[in-house]
Amino acid sequence: MTPAQIAEVKQSFALVAPIADQAGLLFYQRLFEIDPTLRALFKGDIETQSKKLMQMIAVAVNGLDQLDTIVPAVRALGARHAGYGVTDAHYDTVAVALLWTLEQGLGEAFTTATRDAWIEAYLLLAGTMKAAAREPALQS
Ligand code: HEM
Repeated sequence: MTPAQIAEVKQSFALVAPIADQAGLLFYQRLFEIDPTLRALFKGDIETQSKKLMQMIAVAVNGLDQLDTIVPAVRALGARHAGYGVTDAHYDTVAVALLWTLEQGLGEAFTTATRDAWIEAYLLLAGTMKAAAREPALQS
C-alpha cells in the first residue's frame, strides 16, 4: 500500500469509529443477506462478534504503517479461521459486505480513492490470513 492509501484508510476508519457498533451489525446483516449459508458458521452472539471484528479491524488499521507489529496476530487469526470452517472464497464475500458497509457509513466520503485504499488493505489482511490458514503448523 502507498502511504497515501494508508492515510486514506486511517482517516476514513476514524469517521466510522464513532458508529462502529452500528456499522458492525450492518456488516453482518449484509453478509448474511449476500450468503445466508454463512450464518451457521457463527456460533456466538453476533453483537459480541461484531465488536470483536471492529476491534480487530481497528488494530489492523492502526498497524498498517508498521506491518511487523500486526502480522503475527493476523496470521494467528487466519489460522483460527480455518478452524471456524472459513474458506478462501468466503473472504471475497466478506470483502463485498465490508466495502458496502463502509459506503453506507461514509456516504459521500466514500470516494474511489477510499474504496481503492480499503481494497488494498483488505487484500493485505485477507492474504495474510489465508496464507496462515494453509500452514498446518499454525493450526491447533
Ligand atoms: C479481514 C478479515 C477478517 C477479520 C479481521 C476477522 C476477524 C475476526 C475476529 C476478531 C474474530 C473473533 C475470534 C478470533 O479472534 O479468533 C472472528 C471470528 C470469526 N470469523 Fe472472522 N474475520 C475476518 C474474516 C472472516 C471471514 C472471511 C469469515 C467467513 C465467513 C469469517 C468468519 C468468522 C467466524 C465463523 C468466526 C467465529 C465466530 C464464532 O465465535 O462462532 N471471518 N473473526
